[in-house]
Amino acid sequence: MLTGKRILVTSGPTHEPIDPVRYIANRSSGAQGTAIATALRDLGAEVVFVTGPAQVPAPVGVKVVRVETALQMLEAVEAALPVEAAIMAAAVADWRVANASDQKMKKTAQGFPDLHFIENPDILRTLSQHAQRPRLVVGFAAETENVIDHATAKRARKGCDWILANDVSPATGIMGGAENAVHLVTAEGVEDWPRMAKSEVADRLAQRIAQALA
Ligand code: CTP
Repeated sequence: MLTGKRILVTSGPTHEPIDPVRYIANRSSGAQGTAIATALRDLGAEVVFVTGPAQVPAPVGVKVVRVETALQMLEAVEAALPVEAAIMAAAVADWRVANASDQKMKKTAQGFPDLHFIENPDILRTLSQHAQRPRLVVGFAAETENVIDHATAKRARKGCDWILANDVSPATGIMGGAENAVHLVTAEGVEDWPRMAKSEVADRLAQRIAQALA
């Protein structure tokens, strides 16, 4: 059980504005993060759920913090500390538009908008190196090739404890779908979990988190 344990979950995509009516986003529905928050809640955890604009409704019985951009998500994550564990399921946009316009951009005869990109802060890495680092930090790795190799490298690079790696190639139907097939990468090695409903992945992960924090 996780009774009384405060756990942070990030979920959903982020939206990075181009101008007041346009944004850059990704295909994350928020389904896996929402399922994880629900499973942790069901084990008694006090869940802080920081979510970008997702397609699925947020769980009830958790503290919901709604954000749009990666910068807002970072701020909300830091404001939620301290927590015992953090599960970073959000598909954070890697880049934002540096020269986003205050006014709607108009078509011109001169050609296409001259958008400049700037890298967003890595929220998972920031949390892993934070003075108030949670005891357990879990990230995701969304990959389309060499899933295990990339996820193993990502775990080292980001300094988190566990990575749940999944193949988000369109053919898998995972991103935006109801099922997931994950590999749990830890310091001890790699576990391949069979393809199952996102809710089952969430239940299994929540059990593992409860063991780790016991
Ligand atoms: N993540 C984050 N902040 C970012 C980007 C990603 O916190 N700016 C987190 C995600 O929530 C996820 C993990 O990092 O838990 C991995 O995300 P992923 O998109 O797979 O990795 P990237 O950082 O984009 O790495 P790469 O460009 O090599 O795929």
